[in-house]
Amino acid sequence: MGAGILTIYRMDTKCGQTKELVVEKLAEARERTRWLLHTVSDEDLARQHAEIMSPLIWDYGHIGNYEELWLLEQAFGRGLSERELYDMYDASLTPRSERPSLNLLDRGDADRYLDAVREAVFEAFADADLDGEDPLLQSAFVYHMVLQHEYQHNETMLQTLQLIQGAGYRPEMRAVLPAGNPPEEEMVYVAGGPFVMGTDDRVWALDNERVAHEVELPGFYLDTTPVTNRAYLQFVEDGGYDREELWDPRGWEWVKEEEVSAPKHWYQPDPHRWWTQCFGFDEPLRGDAPVMHVSWFEADAYARWAGKRLPTEPEWEKAASWDPATGTKRLYPWGDEPANGARANLDQLAYRPAEIGAYPDGASAYGVLGMIGDVWEWTASEFSSYPGFESFPYPEYSEIFFDDGYRVLRGGSWATRPGAIRTTFRNWDFPIRRQLFVGFRCAK
Ligand SMILES: [Fe+2]
Repeated sequence: MGAGILTIYRMDTKCGQTKELVVEKLAEARERTRWLLHTVSDEDLARQHAEIMSPLIWDYGHIGNYEELWLLEQAFGRGLSERELYDMYDASLTPRSERPSLNLLDRGDADRYLDAVREAVFEAFADADLDGEDPLLQSAFVYHMVLQHEYQHNETMLQTLQLIQGAGYRPEMRAVLPAGNPPEEEMVYVAGGPFVMGTDDRVWALDNERVAHEVELPGFYLDTTPVTNRAYLQFVEDGGYDREELWDPRGWEWVKEEEVSAPKHWYQPDPHRWWTQCFGFDEPLRGDAPVMHVSWFEADAYARWAGKRLPTEPEWEKAASWDPATGTKRLYPWGDEPANGARANLDQLAYRPAEIGAYPDGASAYGVLGMIGDVWEWTASEFSSYPGFESFPYPEYSEIFFDDGYRVLRGGSWATRPGAIRTTFRNWDFPIRRQLFVGFRCAK
């Protein structure tokens, strides 16, 4: 690829411009994937660092195979690989527990495989009609889906890298974050009334974000920022983990069984101090940073302790996306313009959340801060479909996870690539999970 392929698409047509952008984004995504892995030893790539994570080398091969499946086989009927390879990298056919014992491509072979797929993808792309009737190709939807898939696996890979034992993954650099500035008002009032939830977009949005529908909500208060380490520590020191009345019964069972007494990666070097371990760096708990690596059960118990509750998914989306003055919906809390370093902490290279209030330019129309980036936020809602939902292009993306006990997370984290997050984007996981870069805020 490189200059040669770009010239092919450099035409003064809308389709040509879209293609040029897609080519650039695909190349950039691959560069990041490889950059994240280039300092990881072959041994650490092949090992399964936690039961709930894949070996990193599986993620890497799977990224290439997903691209082959969608941008060659499904879009043009031009697959390259044998069935066996497809099966090995199919997330719904191969459970995580089996992935370490598979005959996975090693780094060198995976590099060559991903390059071969990419070359064939660009070749096929030259003939693709992005203005035609095929809903996969229309407006480059399937290319955007594959891009978002690679972005999402980058974040999954970072979750795995945070779980590496021993010295841990030490990033070569950490981007400098703006200083925090805690807001004066602890909570913001979001007036009752209707708003539009979800989207009808078919260019970037994934099936579970559709269709746009009106939702009527009563007024509510929402925390201006995510809950901080300092606030969460008060819950810990107030015996939060020993008070059954604060917990959902299933959460209480989990706390007792797993002997949980603090967020994951918190520890006490002596009985008077709390530290955190993050990507091979140990540091004193940062009081003004959002609490991270808590389960839904912990978030729920904290909210009860604080005399509050978790926001529902519609509440979260309204506070993040609705502009009550104009009655319109925003793609991001601050508007429709893309994220930048003054609006949100995204794109991985800080390797941690900023202190609260660090992004006044990222405020939503209601004045809520930090809704995109820093930490994912648990909501009270179970993951289910919107009215009028249609699975597209495959049910294993989201449909098979509906109404199965998963809780919705919103807003992305510092580890989310900007192209993978917006105010309508929905993520989900089991309520006991803590490997995510996840925190929460409360409502009332
Ligand atoms: Fe995947």
